[in-house]
Amino acid sequence: MNVGIDKISFFVPPYYVDMTDLALAREVDPNKFHIGIGQDKMAVNKKTQDIVTFAANAAKNILTDEDKKQIDMVIVGTESGIDESKASAVVLHRLLGIQPFARAFEIKEACYAGTAALQYAVAHINIHPESKVLVVASDIAKYGLASGGEPTQGVGAIAMLVSADPRILQLNNDSVALTQDIYDFWRPVGHDYPMVDGQLSNETYIQAFQKVWKEYQQRHKKSFADFHALTFHIPYTKMGKKALLAALEDEAPEEQERILAKYEASIVYSRQVGNLYTGSLYLGLISLLENAKLKAGEQIGLFSYGSGTVAEFFSGTLVGGFENQLLTELHQKQLAERKGLSITEYEEMFNDHLEVDADKEYDDALLYSIASISNTVRTYKED
Ligand code: CAA
Repeated sequence: MNVGIDKISFFVPPYYVDMTDLALAREVDPNKFHIGIGQDKMAVNKKTQDIVTFAANAAKNILTDEDKKQIDMVIVGTESGIDESKASAVVLHRLLGIQPFARAFEIKEACYAGTAALQYAVAHINIHPESKVLVVASDIAKYGLASGGEPTQGVGAIAMLVSADPRILQLNNDSVALTQDIYDFWRPVGHDYPMVDGQLSNETYIQAFQKVWKEYQQRHKKSFADFHALTFHIPYTKMGKKALLAALEDEAPEEQERILAKYEASIVYSRQVGNLYTGSLYLGLISLLENAKLKAGEQIGLFSYGSGTVAEFFSGTLVGGFENQLLTELHQKQLAERKGLSITEYEEMFNDHLEVDADKEYDDALLYSIASISNTVRTYKED
């Protein structure tokens, strides 16, 4: 049976910071951010916008009333959870009006969780071909003002509808996963920001790609030549390129050029958004589908990486007519219509924390933003 991604969309909040402005404010050469890190803009959010806000806005772009009747599982991958116990997927299930006889839960392993959710969904559809699964990856990547990780922040969500006979990407059931207990990036309970060993995280990412890619090639007797494009988890756009360059070392120059050209198409959106943690690989996939010239039947490789660490390489085959399922115009309009913030506005927004224990009402025009908090329970602005 063919199982995979039937629909896919992303949502980012309507604000960004220009990386030249951030560099100048931090007394850094702007080329470090634009070239060295590979970021042009960074998405930022108001305190009244959380992972549920982003998840619901991304999912509403793709779901029809018929889908809502057929979905029997909602999985949210996140490392920015708003509750230690109750899953954001349960709130999302209600906000979206999905039929009641469904499972809804949250899943965690740093930036890998979106892929864990996708693979769980695929396994479920293989047993229940008539059902559909909503997979969402939603996060707020924050490292702190003037911190080393600041230029690699970002925020937003990806929503995917997983089904049998998918109309975008059929997954090839060829995953190779790798688990290693390494502290390169982690966030202990109670900490607002992650602990991160930046250089170790870069090295571990590159080595993890090399390990799963080598194992994948051996198990499946495949090489770069079998892929039309490879797309990566993108904590910042230079990262995937560094891993790719290391693996491409022994390839002919024209083969390197072919693969790198497609990588550039996969980072068009991330350059304007920053890190989405769990959603980053899938923002890269959307960017590739919407910005590269691709044809049905072509093979796409996907590298998922979550610090701590779990990595996975898997692949998919583009389905005939996939281009008719894309929401290119909506996505590009969304990015273009955001408001650029001054550094002062960004810092004020960053420091404006949600008072999770205070009973209060809020006034944010964004759909599914937090409308009030009462007894620590969040209510969201609905249609
Ligand atoms: N012009 C052009 N390039 C310049 C430059 C200039 N004026 N100045 C510096 N650069 C280059 C550097 O040469 C370097 O390039 P290479 O990596 O190719 O050597 C690049 O800019 C970055 O410079 P530094 O290494 O000095 O940057 P830094 O020490 O300030 O930190 C970072 C970079 C480690 C990524 C930091 O931003 C960070 O800790 N980020 C968070 C962690 C992270 O994203 N890790 C990625 C792997 S972990 C993961 O993938 C999971 C996840 O999502 C977090």
